[in-house]
Order: sequence, then C-alpha cells, then structure tokens
Amino acid sequence: MDKRFENKVVLITGAGSGFGRMAAQRFADEGARLALSDVNAEGLAETAASLKCEVISDVLDVTDEAQHIAHIAHIRDAFGTLDVAINNAGWGHDLKPLHMVSGDEFDRSIAINAKGVFLGMKHQLPMMHAAGGGAILNVASAAGLVGAAMISAYAAAKHAVVGLTRAAADENARKNIRVNALCPSFSSTPMVQEMASQIEARTGADRDTTYAQIANRIPMARVSEPQEVVQAMLWICAPENSFMTGQAIAIDGGLTAI
Ligand SMILES: NC(=O)c1ccc[n+]([C@@H]2O[C@H](COP(=O)([O-])OP(=O)(O)OC[C@H]3O[C@@H](n4cnc5c(N)ncnc54)[C@H](O)[C@@H]3O)[C@@H](O)[C@H]2O)c1
Repeated sequence: MDKRFENKVVLITGAGSGFGRMAAQRFADEGARLALSDVNAEGLAETAASLKCEVISDVLDVTDEAQHIAHIAHIRDAFGTLDVAINNAGWGHDLKPLHMVSGDEFDRSIAINAKGVFLGMKHQLPMMHAAGGGAILNVASAAGLVGAAMISAYAAAKHAVVGLTRAAADENARKNIRVNALCPSFSSTPMVQEMASQIEARTGADRDTTYAQIANRIPMARVSEPQEVVQAMLWICAPENSFMTGQAIAIDGGLTAI
C-alpha cells in the first residue's frame, strides 16, 4: 500500500499519551517525519522511543507562546518545512456541575484547550504559508458541538476550538491550507480512563458498567477504541482529502446526530 505521508513533516502536540501517541505511531507507519511535543516529558520520551522514523521532540506547554516559537524554530532547523499540524493536547477538569467549577479551573481549561490551539496555529501557519500549503487538524470534542453536562468549562473551550478552526480555514483556504476540527465522543484513552476512575470511586461500579453508563446517550451504545478516532485524524489530513476545510467532524457513535 502507498504510504500517504511519505517524507511529510507532521507536528503533534500532546504526543505523550492517548490519541497523540497513537497518531504518532500511525503517521510513522505511513512514512512521516515527526515533530512531537507534550508537557509530560516522560510520556513524550516513551512515545519517541517507540518510533522507527525521523523524530524530534520538545517538552512544550501549549499555554506558553515562547515554547511554541522555540518548537517551530527546532522544526525549521531539523526539517526545513511543516506539512501537517495536529493540535491535540488537551485537559479535562473533574466532573462537576457548572456552579461547582472554580474560576481557576475555567481559566485553565480555556488556556490549555483553546488558547493552546490558538497559539499553535498562530505559529504553524506562517511556516505553511512559506511552504505553499498544509493541513491543520485541531482536536476539539463532541462537547465542542453540543452541551455536555458536568464538563462545562471543557465544553466552552472546545466550542472555541471549533470557532478558531472555522475562522482559520476561511483565512487560509486560498493559501492551500486546510484547517479542520475533530470532535470525538468518549474514547478509552487515559483521559477517559481517569474520568471512569472518578465515577467508580463514587459508585463502586466496575469498568464495564461505568463505560455502559458513559455511553448511555450514544446511539451506538459504547465508547470508542482510540484507533477508531486516530484513523480519522490521518484521513482528514491526507493529501487525498483535498477539498475538505473548515469542518468539525464528529467521530461519536451518533451522539451529536440526535
Ligand atoms: N478521549 C476522549 O474521549 C476524548 C474525547 C473528545 C476529545 N478528546 C480530546 O483529545 C485530545 C487528546 O486527549 P486524550 O484522550 O488522548 O487524553 P490524554 O490525557 O491521554 O492525552 C492528552 C495529552 O495532552 C497533554 N497535555 C495536557 N496539558 C498540556 C499542556 N498544557 N501542554 C502540552 N500538553 C498537554 C497530556 O500530557 C497528555 O499527554 C484532547 O484534546 C482531548 O480533549 C478526547
């Protein structure tokens, strides 16, 4: 089979865990050269060590603009160009109703989930302008499309990611840069495993029962396997998907269709 990303330079934030780590492995299988980052140095090093491709990695907190600037400079030195950027890093606050969410938790959710994507695109786009094109994928959430009880500050930030995506898509469409968002519902990554553990501590339920409760409102009645989401990341960014931009694609078992 042809490798869809042969020699392409692919940036992934939040690459130390979950979707980001699996995406790095799948892009490597498809021939990519990788620029990985995460705030978690240990997770990032584990991901980088699992790869058999050209890779650079930087510890990067997506809320810190200077670190984005340094990462882009590192990519320029190492690879000279940037073809694909996946703004994937994210953080979910503990499950609680809006009136129990602190101002600090709200600010943190906006800083990581929304401003992190803004700063990422702000510094990725000029490199893609210079390259004459590219593809950006921002990882939002089904909670960026519809209301989501108990995760209000997360939902607010993920709605912002969808808005940023649409604006950047419009601004860059004539520069041959496609910008899309991905909106998964629950998938069994460490983020959702942690959320399930919180529920189990409260209810005493086992993991299967908790996942069944989480999936209660999903027409397909299950959480997804991470690879079901990651395959969509690759397809959305692939050169063959040449006419899709400004979209928020839900991989959600039907959650946002009802
Ligand atoms: N798993 C799901 O069900 C689900 C659903 C919808 C959206 N998402 C989104 O998918 C993305 C990936 O999440 P995941 O499920 O793989 O979870 P995860 O917790 O396994 O991975 C998130 C990664 O982001 C990193 N990160 C957190 N704060 C950061 C910061 N300030 N700077 C840089 N990196 C930071 C973490 O260290 C971690 O490696 C997130 O944006 C998340 O909101 C996940």
